[in-house]
Amino acid sequence: MRTPLIAGNWKMNTTLADAHILATGIRNEAEHLEQIEIVLCPPSIWLTEVAHIVPPRHYSHLKLGAQNMYFEETGAFTGEISPLMVKEVAEYVIIGHSERTHLFGEKVPFLAQKVRSALDHSLNPIICVGEDAKAADSKRQLVHTLEHLTVDLTQVELEQIVIAYEPVWAIGSGTPATPDYAQEVIAALRRVVTEKTRMLYGGSVSDQNSLGFLSQPDIDGLLIGGASLKIKTFITIARQADDQIVAQKSTSKQP
Ligand code: 13P
Repeated sequence: MRTPLIAGNWKMNTTLADAHILATGIRNEAEHLEQIEIVLCPPSIWLTEVAHIVPPRHYSHLKLGAQNMYFEETGAFTGEISPLMVKEVAEYVIIGHSERTHLFGEKVPFLAQKVRSALDHSLNPIICVGEDAKAADSKRQLVHTLEHLTVDLTQVELEQIVIAYEPVWAIGSGTPATPDYAQEVIAALRRVVTEKTRMLYGGSVSDQNSLGFLSQPDIDGLLIGGASLKIKTFITIARQADDQIVAQKSTSKQP
């Protein structure tokens, strides 16, 4: 069974005080949600502070991620953060979010270098893919993109990465994909990776629609933007994922 993953991408939000309150609130509420993995991705400037609140490996199920990184270890790359830096405070790194590809022009070969670098530094990349607009061939294009991003990866690495399907039209729009549609795309993407690879859905996830996604056979969790900035909403979603595993385990134990 794949461990569900609920990730909060805070994007470019929170003051230092906000980050403190949010991380502390989630840490306190998440203590017993041990059936799932929760990953908080604050702005990189707050990662160290949040790491003090959620110490690495303090709770084995509550982890930190960076929202982006460069692939080189050190050097003259003004404004960038390196895998060596991320590694000191986080275990995950989001790569290829559509806000990076659309607003900052990051392209597939560049992203593939970041994926390679993350894995070489024992970081788990959360690789984002998603189409701009609903189109008849969008599924085929996404499969093609994911093939390019993962072409050099070993079987073990393919099991270690996380894929997030985030249709661009669903991000921040209040109009999520339907769970059936997300399942269909994610099942197609899974064929590029492995049965063990965790696959997430992201795009206008709320505590009202999350269960619909979590109930799909190929959807192993959620990458949440806006709703990850509210302690109660984020924890409600995480609790739904945790409850589902508890229920599945108790059903499978029945004779
Ligand atoms: P929203 O949940 O705000 O739509 O953002 C999704 C997202 O981009 C997460 O990475």
